[in-house]
Amino acid sequence: MSTCVIVPAAGSGTRLGHTEPKAFVQVDGRTLLAHSLDAIITSGVATTIVVAAPEVFVSLAEAEVAEVRRRFAGGGGSGRVGGGAEADVSGGSGAGAHESRVRPGQVEIIVVPGCADRVESVEAALTAAGDPDIVLVHDAARALTPPAVFDRVTDAVSSGAEAVVPVLPMIDTVRRAEESPRRIPLDDDADLEPDPPREQPDPPRGHAAEVEVLRGDLDRGSLRRVQTPQGFAAETLRRAHASYREEVRTLGAGAREATDDAGLVERLGVDVVAVAGDEESLKITYPLDLVLAEHIARERGR
Ligand code: CTP
Ligand code: MG
Repeated sequence: MSTCVIVPAAGSGTRLGHTEPKAFVQVDGRTLLAHSLDAIITSGVATTIVVAAPEVFVSLAEAEVAEVRRRFAGGGGSGRVGGGAEADVSGGSGAGAHESRVRPGQVEIIVVPGCADRVESVEAALTAAGDPDIVLVHDAARALTPPAVFDRVTDAVSSGAEAVVPVLPMIDTVRRAEESPRRIPLDDDADLEPDPPREQPDPPRGHAAEVEVLRGDLDRGSLRRVQTPQGFAAETLRRAHASYREEVRTLGAGAREATDDAGLVERLGVDVVAVAGDEESLKITYPLDLVLAEHIARERGR
């Protein structure tokens, strides 16, 4: 079975706050994009990889692809499969239901310009993906995802699941915010608003504050944190995106928000099934995530 891994990498990384787009931010001396490609190639699941890069950074992304290719050609990938042409271990150790590992040198890697939102970036990549049996979508922001996670997801899709996501249990207690905030009257000594600067008079009596009211009706034990790579029967993913496109065309801004691909597939009535995720697949979003990622990458390199 042929598998295409789509890598949405066209975001700007606003929350990370670097000048370069997030995919080009470095961890342990290499870009998030390079780390992501390493993991995908090392897993041996991908026949094709399609990267959606920010439009003006397509050639920089191609340079990253070339760097990753050189490392694998020199035997310097991230280790598990190794580098050269003799590295194939078809059906060998670690290979699951997907029959054979693709050798690093045989993986086709394409870079396409991404778009203004993630769904469109995935669609741009899907257009360039050819005709694979399976499509995995993997955020470049989850750059340190272990290759074994790609195996688990691909195995589950090869075994017949139409939509597969790696998950972890919920750690925090979660509460649901009511749709609209409520205005509540405040006593003079209520502490819901910051204290006025000393020089200013007390706020007038009877002032009010807007507060978010929370409902504790979510059962943490039944909730999961969803990661990538998310895996799909290719035809199912294409149908889900076509259906979403139609919804956006007819409803415009009223279309439901789409935060991931499994969410779109689920709207077709397809069951989304879980495999084990990994804490090291963290989504690098804020500066603090980068500190943890740096530590993980350095530990791996020792
Ligand atoms: N992505 C994309 N195209 C977009 C927006 C996001 O390909 N228009 C990709 C990002 O590059 C990232 C993944 O989707 O790999 C998940 O998005 P996120 O972590 O939100 O990254 P950014 O959108 O870059 O970050 P931010 O939201 O902080 O700007
Ligand atoms: Mg974003």
